[in-house]
Amino acid sequence: MNIKDRIEYLRDEINAHNHAYYILDKPTISDFDFDKLLSELISLEEKNPDYFNINSPSQRVGGSVLNKFNSVKHKYPMLSLGNTYSATDLMDFNDKLRKLTDVSFEYVSELKYDGVSISLTYQNGELTQALTRGDGSKGDDVTANVRTIKSIPLKLHGNYPKNFVVRGEIFLTINGLIQINKDRIDRGLEPYANTRNTASGSLKLLDTSEVAKRPLQCFLYHILGDDLPSKSHFENLMYAKRWGLNISSDIKLNTTIEQVIKFTYEWDLKRTKLPYEIDGIVVKVNDIDLQNELGFTSKYPRWAISYKFKSEQVSTKLNNISFQVGRTGAITPVANLEPVKLAGTIVKRASLHNADQISRLDIRVGDTVFVEKGGEIIPKVVSVDLKSRDLFSQKTNYITHCPSCNSKLSRNEGDAKHYCLNNENCTPQLIGKFEHFISRKAMNIDGLGVETIELLLNKNLINDVSDLYSLNREDLLPLDRMATKSVDNLLLAIEKSKKVPFEKLLFGLGIRFVGENVAKILVKKFKNINTLMNSNKEELILVDEIGSRIADSLISWFSSPKNIQLVKNLQLIGLQFVSDFDDSILSDKLKNMKIVISGTFIYNTRADIKKIIEEHGGKNVSSISKNTTFVIAGNDMGPSKKQKSIDLGIALLSEKEFLAKLN
Ligand code: IVH
Repeated sequence: MNIKDRIEYLRDEINAHNHAYYILDKPTISDFDFDKLLSELISLEEKNPDYFNINSPSQRVGGSVLNKFNSVKHKYPMLSLGNTYSATDLMDFNDKLRKLTDVSFEYVSELKYDGVSISLTYQNGELTQALTRGDGSKGDDVTANVRTIKSIPLKLHGNYPKNFVVRGEIFLTINGLIQINKDRIDRGLEPYANTRNTASGSLKLLDTSEVAKRPLQCFLYHILGDDLPSKSHFENLMYAKRWGLNISSDIKLNTTIEQVIKFTYEWDLKRTKLPYEIDGIVVKVNDIDLQNELGFTSKYPRWAISYKFKSEQVSTKLNNISFQVGRTGAITPVANLEPVKLAGTIVKRASLHNADQISRLDIRVGDTVFVEKGGEIIPKVVSVDLKSRDLFSQKTNYITHCPSCNSKLSRNEGDAKHYCLNNENCTPQLIGKFEHFISRKAMNIDGLGVETIELLLNKNLINDVSDLYSLNREDLLPLDRMATKSVDNLLLAIEKSKKVPFEKLLFGLGIRFVGENVAKILVKKFKNINTLMNSNKEELILVDEIGSRIADSLISWFSSPKNIQLVKNLQLIGLQFVSDFDDSILSDKLKNMKIVISGTFIYNTRADIKKIIEEHGGKNVSSISKNTTFVIAGNDMGPSKKQKSIDLGIALLSEKEFLAKLN
């Protein structure tokens, strides 16, 4: 098989496995074998840039960084739907339609996915464009981001129309949001509140590789085009499924509005069992000719309507407000409620978010409050029943001091939350720090629960994480729930953690904004803790992906004498503060060369190109001067830079020419 055929074969094979995994939910290959195919494809494509194809499955990992999104006109306006809230509303909708037409017709009932709408264009079976709704007539071109969403096929199969537009909803599953939030909490960032806003925010990220990390999903529900296979909306969706598009199986063809109403009732009950959120049902006239005949009002189609579920609300008494202190010192107010049943579970606590939220709603202890489980996973207090407020109720004054250590709280401009700054002695912060240090993604020390950490802290057996390494059997055996075997296992796990690589240790130190990924980047760049500790802000922010917020946080952490001492102690114990990361020079083809990178590129990110330069002994410099050896010129290279290179007689190499130079 020649190279071109092998590349085509690998692309088809990978597309088929992606389809089986992400759309049919029936994996046909092991992760290991899949990765093998993908890395073979990536390597062949790298070596043969002539066969580049933007819709190759290798492009799903993202890489390009955009400056902004271009605004593009929709081929068909992208309208929203009128809302109804009751069975009577649906009957009215039906009566109106039946009056407008003499012929009998069917409805299609679909779920209303709670995400952000997207319009995809396929030409000759390939995804060519993805636009957000925008103002309905023009939307943002988010094609590069959409290419990273695995349930959106980049290439179709079967007998698809040459040109068509398909619309759908991009959303996050509930578990997807939990996964993103775990990572954010690890990095000391505020968790996102709901799936819809997070999906929409993810689609607007400028760095496509960041989008690729978000577990976004997509269902498609509306096909538009001149040569669609059928005049039935339902049938078209069934065809689209065969072309590889992700169409939900929870669609029903109904002949009467009563059946539609039954569908809404059924799903109102069943929706809590879905892995994603739906906020209603969409009802559409099935016959496309009839749809066209009925047409649109100024805002909505006459042939479709949405039925919105009521967010179940209950009222209950607010017994008191407590304040939680997180690992980073962030304070979260929590409403402690008289237990009440809501959407299938008993709710005792609800989030109050922050001080602004409490004063906006004027929430007071003793109030009767309404609680709702909306898009948010944690129930929230949505309003206060002012009519039943006690005459003598007291306005809530937000706490000024830490509920645990009594230090004065502070709130920086731009922060929604108040913080306790006593990170060194405040117990919940300390417990949080230990929990973080021993967690799987950090030192992976199993067998130490929160209660045990608290006991050890109270007994003064541990003060900071370095003390874990001096614990012995005598310290641990007398503690509750610590039998000989569990003590031995724990001590073994502590001992084993001394070998955990530097990036995990750095992450485990719990420096604000230093999550797993940032820790990896820092270790790769600085190699050992001493270099990192002695770097100033300018040096830190020179590193890709390290901004001034992270740099400030690192500098502040490393300027605390207690933290410096902690690092010294951990070094003496023998923990890994040096990286064994091997970035040996691949060649000296670019030795002594000063190379400028300008613009954006097709095959590599700017960071990758910089890495390639360094791997071959060159130096990446930022500005063009007479000492520059050559410029790697990408798309959107600024005209003044271009002119300057020409004036100084410095060669401009395309990305391909540069890569060819190294082969
Ligand atoms: S049909 C003209 N079908 O709900 C047809 N929309 O409130 C317009 N949505 O803008 C859309 N699930 O973002 C349709 N099965 C579904 C849907 C759906 C969710 C969203 C979509 C739309 C909004 C209207």
